[in-house]
Amino acid sequence: MDFPLHGRSFLRELDFTFDEWTYLLDLAAQLKADRAAGKEKQYMKGLRIALVFQKMSTRTRSSFEVAAFDQGAHTTYLDPASSHVGYKESVADTARVLGRIFDAIEFRGDHQTTVEQLNKWSGVPVFNGLTDLWHPTQMLADGLTMREHAGKPLAETSYTYVGDARYNMGRSLLVSGAMLGMDVRIVAPKSLQPPHDVIEMAKARAEETGARVTVTDEVEAVAGSDFVHTDMWVSMGEPDSVWDERVELLTPYRVDANMMDMAGADAKFMHCLPAIHDRNTEVGLRVFERYGLDGCEVSDEVFSSDRSVVFDQAENRMHTIKAVMVASLGREA
Ligand code: CP
Ligand code: NVA
Repeated sequence: MDFPLHGRSFLRELDFTFDEWTYLLDLAAQLKADRAAGKEKQYMKGLRIALVFQKMSTRTRSSFEVAAFDQGAHTTYLDPASSHVGYKESVADTARVLGRIFDAIEFRGDHQTTVEQLNKWSGVPVFNGLTDLWHPTQMLADGLTMREHAGKPLAETSYTYVGDARYNMGRSLLVSGAMLGMDVRIVAPKSLQPPHDVIEMAKARAEETGARVTVTDEVEAVAGSDFVHTDMWVSMGEPDSVWDERVELLTPYRVDANMMDMAGADAKFMHCLPAIHDRNTEVGLRVFERYGLDGCEVSDEVFSSDRSVVFDQAENRMHTIKAVMVASLGREA
């Protein structure tokens, strides 16, 4: 097997070309099929990966750990309570230490600048497991899931992201669809739309790939979408005080059966997860008690319906994260 992305870090989608992104999707599909057929080969035997998490995670951490295990590599998990990073030891010093001990570093945290610093100082490939600005491993999983469910090429596939589009998910969905030549629509209240420079970056990529990019506050733009994506109304690290404003601004953008019908009879629902779709979590219960809302960004009716592909999407986190690591670190089995 060839490894054309050998030694590459994975910091943000825009660092990759159409061909490179498509290669990662193809590799993920291949690794997924090989595993299902019991034919998976190990390309990462004996490698050591540091997993640095400054924020919570269920899917991303599990995916890195299981993907590394499947490929014969070892992981070490560092959480904010059990490492010095950022508190007693600078990111640059931490990077230089980890780079001596590990073959690669995964990082999840508050700032894109931190993952870039780790990349600058560690001397080993660095993988972005989510920052304030981008969620690129999620984008590969979303691309693979849409490819599997659309039944047509991604360049003929459309999707709408509905919600707060200023942060990682809204920004990443905007640029990654543009990179793949898709019909991308971002629907958000004006004050929650992506920054101008990100829209311009997406439009520049769209010029190259033939993608269609729409950013609007009109919910009707969802019409004719093959997929409807959303994200939590309040992201990790945001203060509790933003809830009042967010609920007021985003309630008209909640994904319910009516919105899915507006998208189209065959439209599928997607969500990076976790999702607040009922009262069965602490946050969901608090939202119900405070605002009388049963679920936030998506109704349970949609989340639990046949139109929801969220668990296929979650599974694909593992296959795509495996592809990122194999592409960068893999050696012939
Ligand atoms: N979607 C996602 O990144 O999930 P986790 O926060 O559980 O890793
Ligand atoms: N926007 C969310 C994504 C979680 C996967 C957050 O940053 O918390």
